[in-house]
Amino acid sequence: MRYCPPLLIVYSCNTKDLSSEARPSTALSVTDLRCEGLYQAQQVDTAAPRFSWRLEVQPEHARDVRQIACQLRVVEVDSYGRALGAPVESGRLETDASQWVVLPGFTAKGRTSYAWQVRIWDNRGEASDWSAPHRFGTGLCGGKWPAKWIGDGRTLLLSETAPARYFRGVLSLEELPVRARLYVSALGLVEPWLNGQKVTNDLFIPGWPDYRRRVFYAAFDVTHLLREGDNTVGTVLADGWYSGTLIPGHQYGHEAMFSAFLDLVDADGRITTITTDEGWRWTDTGPITSNSIYDGEAYDARRELADWCAPRSSAGGDDWRPVRVKHVWHGENIPAAFTARLSAPVRRVEMVRPVGVQRLGSDVHVFDLGQNLAGWVRLRVCAKAGQEFTLRFAEMLEPDGSLHTANLRSAKATARYVAKGAEVEEWEPTFTYFGFRYVELSGVEELLPDAVTGVVVHADLPQSGHFECSDPLLNQLWRNTLWGQKSNFVEVPTDCPQRDERAGWTGDAQIFASTALYNMEAGNFFRQWLFSVRDGFRDDPEGGFPDIAPYTGFFHGSAGWTEAGIIVPWNVWLHTGDRRVLTENLPAIQHALELMAAQSPDGIRRSPATYGDWLSPGFERGKYPPRYELVATAYFAFALDLAARIADVLGRPELAASNRALRERVRYAFQREYIDKDGRVADDVQTSYLLTLAFDLAPPELRKCVVGHLVRTIEEKHNHLATGFLGTPLLTPVLTSIGRVDLAYSILKQTSYPGWLYSIVNGATTVWERWDSWTPENGFHEDGMNSFNHYTYGSVVSWFYDTIAGLQPLPEAPGWKRIRIAPQPGGGLTRAAARLQTPYGEACSAWRIDEGRLHLTVGIPPNTDAEVVLPVQDVAGVLLDGALLSRHDLAVVTTCSDGRVSITLPSGRYEFILDAAI
Ligand code: BGC
Repeated sequence: MRYCPPLLIVYSCNTKDLSSEARPSTALSVTDLRCEGLYQAQQVDTAAPRFSWRLEVQPEHARDVRQIACQLRVVEVDSYGRALGAPVESGRLETDASQWVVLPGFTAKGRTSYAWQVRIWDNRGEASDWSAPHRFGTGLCGGKWPAKWIGDGRTLLLSETAPARYFRGVLSLEELPVRARLYVSALGLVEPWLNGQKVTNDLFIPGWPDYRRRVFYAAFDVTHLLREGDNTVGTVLADGWYSGTLIPGHQYGHEAMFSAFLDLVDADGRITTITTDEGWRWTDTGPITSNSIYDGEAYDARRELADWCAPRSSAGGDDWRPVRVKHVWHGENIPAAFTARLSAPVRRVEMVRPVGVQRLGSDVHVFDLGQNLAGWVRLRVCAKAGQEFTLRFAEMLEPDGSLHTANLRSAKATARYVAKGAEVEEWEPTFTYFGFRYVELSGVEELLPDAVTGVVVHADLPQSGHFECSDPLLNQLWRNTLWGQKSNFVEVPTDCPQRDERAGWTGDAQIFASTALYNMEAGNFFRQWLFSVRDGFRDDPEGGFPDIAPYTGFFHGSAGWTEAGIIVPWNVWLHTGDRRVLTENLPAIQHALELMAAQSPDGIRRSPATYGDWLSPGFERGKYPPRYELVATAYFAFALDLAARIADVLGRPELAASNRALRERVRYAFQREYIDKDGRVADDVQTSYLLTLAFDLAPPELRKCVVGHLVRTIEEKHNHLATGFLGTPLLTPVLTSIGRVDLAYSILKQTSYPGWLYSIVNGATTVWERWDSWTPENGFHEDGMNSFNHYTYGSVVSWFYDTIAGLQPLPEAPGWKRIRIAPQPGGGLTRAAARLQTPYGEACSAWRIDEGRLHLTVGIPPNTDAEVVLPVQDVAGVLLDGALLSRHDLAVVTTCSDGRVSITLPSGRYEFILDAAI
């Protein structure tokens, strides 16, 4: 490679020193710069990008640090970080905002690269130095996509699979550009190459939108891959989610295609754009002989195309045929919009070594990776040319040690490799993935070392949450849930990663959203998925937000699923503080509520679609209580409540009031129809009471009785849950809100059926779809719909963070600007700790019980403050940092009520010791 980009050079500019009153301090610095919430985003598609940063304070100065002002500057740069033009610089902005800050006077140009910096001043009179520059690239920003679409012109019918197609185009450069950015979009999936090298490690480019309405695009800086003279741009094209078959029976379109362009900027700032066009050629004689998301991939290494995209290869050649070009969209399935990806892409994130291997036949081995996961394996073999190897994937084993594949339903989940006869050959698939713990390899008698290694693949979102306590089973439940999230965050939030589904079920996503946002930085991931939720909206009386997004057929408007279009934006905003996620969803939210209102003339929502409290113990489709209208009406009231709050946040008081008024009508209807005079709620099951209490639907005078009935229905089950997808996430929060944390712990800690720990004592490494997906008595559940990697019941993990450890975001200061820390020890735990990487830095809450006293350590990041709620009657006797709390100079006691004391504290780390009634 001729060019290796040097480290970013800070542009020089003659800014006058605005920090004259305070010299830059080494005790204060600014880190973790983001643009639009992303680290080095390449396709920021707004003229007013928002900038975020974090204050970093030396530990010895770490208390009570707040930003009081900041200054930003941004400049266009080339690929080597050199300034192109003059920077735009703010003056000193008097603000404590360090998240989602817009630079006044800066309008981003499309298809450009920028570097930005920030410096800040704090409340102690310290100033930071300018931060290191952080780079970002922009998307179209309102401009037109300049390239044509190209493909091979063949169509794929439902259930068919095809080889991947290899495309190439050549360009000649007299002079090397100082900046070169490649933009790619596809109906299907692509792997872009340039001069014999992969452009990126990102996978499944450019992602999975609702192709009926839009395509995604991604951008990459490729300057370092170009050379003077002839260059070859290559693309491998696969059917992926577009022309491959989904939820057997759905296909967006029959003909995969892609479109790409390269912007080249020379030293004088002249831009040349090179696009996909008639000059490109394609072949299907390459090694990927079939590709399918559900069925897997076949690769014949003997067909590898040596140097197919090396510089100086001509576009044509024996097997290289002219492409089919589409100038404009026409015909069916016309996506109207080119949309820049918002989320971090899927990548290979971890490698996992097998923990065991069993020989099942002379050349058949089954590997156990010890962990259920999504991804694939790296195969390592030494074989004669033409020798074939087959890899099959499964989550569980049959009693005889063979793979349990019944729960994959029609998904073949198989990879095939044909060797080319080299010394040692290594291979991984590209355009498929599997959900599995076990891998069967056939075709090898003598295994090489590392013959099979697991490759974990998911959206590359930083993990933000950690939890640990004194109960190993709860720790395993936390881990299983995290693995459930990894496995089901492959491009969109899916229900499961293994069977012929792997779809963006909206109910599953809304139930899990809060936990997901604790575990990982998932804000942009959800914001991107919400495009598909809105695109799937159906504007008719039985429509509304879809049950699955991106659309793959299926229903609309099912209670508990359809409300994802409201619940998910709310949760994203709460955890990130990103208002744009609310503004861009509000119109669709209001529209959905109108449709629901039309279905509810007397306040009871009678929508046709129905899942009910899906998969509760003993569940029978369409039958099991609580009755569907009760669920739908309760969810309607909840949706109206959230929509009212969203309208408040966005400064729309009239809209908030009308949502509230309608909510009151729905609430009265619910009371009239479903709540008896003695507080009994229709169908008398746990979920009836949980919906009533969680969504505040009972008349105040009956609330106590409703609570009594809930407790009774739990006690009747010997402190076991009897809930499905919709009741389960409400159990622990409702019990907490009625002061029965003890009962919440008791249900949580049951190891017998049905309960969260039942799967764990039976060896689960991810969360099961059903409470009884497998039992020692009956083996596998008889239904083929039986995933061992469904995250939905893992939604209880948000309670680990917000109640066991007690870290809670607050709607009055979203995005963790103010933190509530209210741990509720119990359940026989002797210690618990959660750490959370908030946008402001790490927050933590760690407690242990020692000789009957509660020792609590809290960490509050700079530029935030916290309300700490202690489980004691009053402050007398509470020690903070070894002295009486009442004498502490930073702690302010705000309230003492209901056996709890609230105090506010500024940023810093603090140690409490108290006599708590635990
Ligand atoms: C999926 C679920 C989904 C459900 C809808 C199932 O097939 O796996 O998780 O929410 O259908 O009822």
